[in-house]
Order: sequence, then structure tokens, then C-alpha cells
Amino acid sequence: MSLANSRRPSLAAPGSKRGEQRSNFELYSWLFMRISGIVLVFLVLGHLFIMNILDGGVQRINFAFVAGRWASPFWQIWDLTMLWLAMLHGTNGLRTIINDYAERDQTRFWMKMLLYVSSGFIILLGTLVLFTFDPNIG
Ligand code: HEM
Repeated sequence: MSLANSRRPSLAAPGSKRGEQRSNFELYSWLFMRISGIVLVFLVLGHLFIMNILDGGVQRINFAFVAGRWASPFWQIWDLTMLWLAMLHGTNGLRTIINDYAERDQTRFWMKMLLYVSSGFIILLGTLVLFTFDPNIG
């Protein structure tokens, strides 16, 4: 084997069914980033406008305001969708960045573990708060 060949990374031949090419996960993940990105534009800009600009903006936000808002299933679903999409979009984006930049297998593995655990924790905690929020404790 020539020196040039021995240094070549072992890549599957185009079209061959090896390794990652067996699943369409990366294709769906690519599609998810585009679709969640479009939905997030409306959810995040709407949220920003309602919470920070519309009548009184951020000055009027207090416990009673949040309690009033979350009494409505519409805002609960809005906030739940925004939480899940932003977290899954951000996590999937960071997964791509880690795959691109972390060179050692171990570094890549542990960075992704940390990412998935912290992201799962925030999604669960946020979902729990949204559904168990008690307006009477204030
Ligand atoms: C507001 C609407 C948003 C739109 C339209 C949007 C759109 C996109 C798109 C299309 C990609 C894929 C880029 C690529 O594959 O080259 C992407 C990547 C990413 N997004 Fe978003 N996004 C939005 C909000 C967010 C939010 C709220 C977060 C954080 C929670 C976030 C974090 C990321 C990260 C970390 C990446 C990976 C960047 C990379 O691959 O270099 N994005 N975004």
C-alpha cells in the first residue's frame, strides 16, 4: 500500500450501505432544522412583541400577568411548542457543531452526553412548570 493510501480516511464508497448511510436520521434532522426554524420565527417574534413591546411591554410583567396568561390553554400550548422547538432545534444544532469540531471520540461522546442530559432536564422542567403552575401561591 502506498503512503498516500495508508493515510486516507476510511470512507464508505458513494451509494454503499455502510455506517450512517443506512439510516435517514441526518436527512430528517436537516429537514427538522428548516421547519422548526420557520415555526420559531413566528413563535419567538410573537413572544418578543407581546411580552416586551405591546401595551406597557416588560414593565407590566409580574406574577399576576404570568398567572393570567397561563390560565389560557392557547398561551400554554404556544409556550410549550416554543420551549420544545427551541430546545430541540438548539440541541440538534449544537450536536452538529460538536460532531464538526470535537475531534477525539471520547470528547465528542461526553460533550453530547452533557448536551442531551442538560437539554432533557430543561425540557422536562419547563414542561412540568407549564402544566403544574399554581396561580394561588402568589
Ligand atoms: C428564530 C428563528 C430561527 C431560525 C429561522 C433558525 C434557523 C436555523 C437553520 C436553518 C439552521 C441550520 C443551519 C445549517 O444547517 O447550516 C439553524 C442552525 C442552528 N440554530 Fe437556529 N434558527 C432559529 C432559532 C434558533 C434558536 C432559538 C436557537 C437556540 C435555542 C437556535 C440555535 C441554532 C444552532 C445552535 C444551530 C446550529 C448552527 C450550525 O450548524 O452551525 N436557532 N438555525
